[in-house]
Amino acid sequence: MEKSIFDKIVQDIELKGWSYQQNIVDNKFLMSIGDCFNQEFRPARVGKNQTLQLQESIRGDWIYWIDPLNPPDRLKFFVQFLQSLKHGLNEAFYMGLRDFECHLAKYPIGSFYKKHLDRFEQDSSRGFSFIFYLHSEWNQEDGGELVLYDKMGNILETILPRPGSFMCFLPGEFPHEVKTAHRERRSLTGWIHTKDLT
Ligand code: OGA
Ligand code: MN
Repeated sequence: MEKSIFDKIVQDIELKGWSYQQNIVDNKFLMSIGDCFNQEFRPARVGKNQTLQLQESIRGDWIYWIDPLNPPDRLKFFVQFLQSLKHGLNEAFYMGLRDFECHLAKYPIGSFYKKHLDRFEQDSSRGFSFIFYLHSEWNQEDGGELVLYDKMGNILETILPRPGSFMCFLPGEFPHEVKTAHRERRSLTGWIHTKDLT
């Protein structure tokens, strides 16, 4: 039997701690969800709670939070995908993943997100990071690569965010950055936590 996408991701996580999968959704699907990006996006902020600050010199993306318990119809596919992946990861590694949070993100032309870790010092409940790339076209000259580093600062991988692809990794292990985008870069990004969020 052919391996499911979830089996492939679980295997990658076991081997290297991250996984990049292309063609999760096709171009027709990407065109059909274009409207979801016409919401009132807000500039993303850096940090958590009291330390939250607006810092365009660190990240320039704009975000729109999605309620995973009540997602827009056209985004339900992603929520179901993540539920299945969560079950697969918990079964394989006893990761204790529970609720997840996610937002749509758009990086206007010229924006980036400097090197960072997805885990906060005071709160390590983010157990898994994921990103679906939702622009319907993307080429080398569009930039916006996701660069993954190891803890020594060596580049592990430079990923061109292909339309309809999926990236995920262990948040405590991989510093990463988003290079300057030369076309509007769109994604659904989030984290599965090891605690309940409600
Ligand atoms: C983030 C992030 C990476 C990407 O939002 O924390 O690192 O490729 N995103 O969009
Ligand atoms: Mn990140």
